[in-house]
Amino acid sequence: MAEYQTYEHDVLVIGAGGAGLRAAIEASAAGVSVGLVCKSLLGKAHTVMAEGGVAAAMANVDDRDNWRVHFSDTMRGGQYVNNWRMAELHAKEAPDRVRELEAWGAVFDRTKDGRILQRNFGGHKYPRLAHVGDRTGLEMIRTLQDHGIHQGIEVYMEVTVIGLLKDGERVTGAFAYEREHGRFRIFKAKAVILATGGIGRAYKITSNSWEGTGDGHALAYDAGAELIDMEFIQFHPTGMVYPPSVRGILVTEGVRGEGGILKNSEGRRFMFDDIPDNYKDQTADSPEEGWRYTQGDKNARRPPELLTRDHVARCIVREVKAGRGTPNGGVYLDIAWIKEKISNAPEHIKKKLPSMYHQFKQLADLDITEQPMEVGPTTHYIMGGIRVDAETQASTVPGLFAAGECAAGINGANRLGGNSLSDLLVFGKRAGEYAVEFAKEQTQGEINQSQIEEIKRRALEAFERTGSENPFHIQHDLQAMMQDLVGIVRNEDEMQRALVGIKELQERRKKISLTGNIDFNPSWHTALDLHNLLTVSEAITRAAIERKESRGGQYREDYSAKNAEFGKVNFTIKKEAGGNMQIERVPIPEMPAELKQIIEEMG
Ligand code: FUM
Repeated sequence: MAEYQTYEHDVLVIGAGGAGLRAAIEASAAGVSVGLVCKSLLGKAHTVMAEGGVAAAMANVDDRDNWRVHFSDTMRGGQYVNNWRMAELHAKEAPDRVRELEAWGAVFDRTKDGRILQRNFGGHKYPRLAHVGDRTGLEMIRTLQDHGIHQGIEVYMEVTVIGLLKDGERVTGAFAYEREHGRFRIFKAKAVILATGGIGRAYKITSNSWEGTGDGHALAYDAGAELIDMEFIQFHPTGMVYPPSVRGILVTEGVRGEGGILKNSEGRRFMFDDIPDNYKDQTADSPEEGWRYTQGDKNARRPPELLTRDHVARCIVREVKAGRGTPNGGVYLDIAWIKEKISNAPEHIKKKLPSMYHQFKQLADLDITEQPMEVGPTTHYIMGGIRVDAETQASTVPGLFAAGECAAGINGANRLGGNSLSDLLVFGKRAGEYAVEFAKEQTQGEINQSQIEEIKRRALEAFERTGSENPFHIQHDLQAMMQDLVGIVRNEDEMQRALVGIKELQERRKKISLTGNIDFNPSWHTALDLHNLLTVSEAITRAAIERKESRGGQYREDYSAKNAEFGKVNFTIKKEAGGNMQIERVPIPEMPAELKQIIEEMG
């Protein structure tokens, strides 16, 4: 029997973005031993791609804001299939989590009277996004990292978990390899928290970096946990489209929050052409009113560029398909135009959006204070993920918790910008707290050697084969297929073709042949990631086929309207005993009267 280096903790956190760090901080503050495993280097997380701000109803800029409005906005944005209890907890607790971050040293932009400044973002009724220019996620990670490492959290960098270990029904640890030398590692833990982020790398155009391969989703699924809402993918309306090498990199919604407008190749502000009924009351009638809103006029309504992301992304696709796109297949996002309104516009833009200024200058040789940007939708976030209990973040498998993007519920069919940062603070803290509570009632579970040997056998089998497949080709083909067939606009025929395609790619994966050894071997890493990418792609496609309607991040041209019956259900995904993917329709629990009343009051 092989010997592996073994580490033992009370709580093991897998993933070191904002949710993982916040969970680890909470667990460690409770005095237990905490291990934090990151696939990449500490600090390199998709959290930094939430640039424009963290949503919290602190009412620093508009005193009409409060948790009720935030709750109602989140439910409206999610088109009412959200886990309402999570949306409630999130709206109530986000302000404290942001203030706590400030106390830990986060440097936010300020109002004139010294409070945390908040900006407008899509779907939020009032200016609600606490921010640091357009580097909010980065500042959050920096703060959490600084705070966390001083608490004695044990950090394991460049370690990828490839299987969860179980003792009976309970998760008792994880099996992993070190990226650099390929050595295997065992982590024993009384409770495990997954905080691995998203799945963007299942698509060709994405804001996600190489780590976003759905690892936590697949680890949980393989361990018997339920996934939920997997059909709902967020295509952020504004990613870079040019040059091709940077296609998909995020262009923060903060640009539109600061007054940026979208135009087609005819110079028309096409967002005024299509205002959804449920936002008519909140949307400006004229460009002038929209501008006044972005400048803080409390009597003005938001410009249509600040409608929810699902809607804005679809409008952009419509313009491009109709031949009114830019030369590189996007639309124009113009912030330079504000020089018509304010005298020091270039300085103002550089101060408010410093990263965007440098990003376009360096990557596209374009000065955003002078010229419009070319932008188009990019796969940014998955609303679906591991099904968790709202209070505790416990998954449906004992000992396994989840937080952040890989967990699901709060966002329903569409997430409002900035809610991911507050989600990961609120539910990262809760996951840490309740994982400790669980861990304190347990002894270390047994580690089953045969489970380890089986995971290792599967991980290494491609080195023994003489097959003809290359993992990079399979990844490329999967990304192209998901982009084309299960993208922003979907239909039954294409998604059925995608299911067949995924099965074919799963078969091709079994024919991958690897050369070299396990010392830093990117082909091997990609081959291992493929299992996760194919698992989440199948889950997304199956759930999207089942939801025969359009809602939020799911738009179906063959069922282009919302269907009230589907507004009462979520879809869960689970692995059957035989290994097949099982999908189930589950009713959304009745919302308590006081929450219903809030939604009614908010119109
Ligand atoms: O546009 C952005 O800055 C992204 C924010 C988010 O995804 O929450």
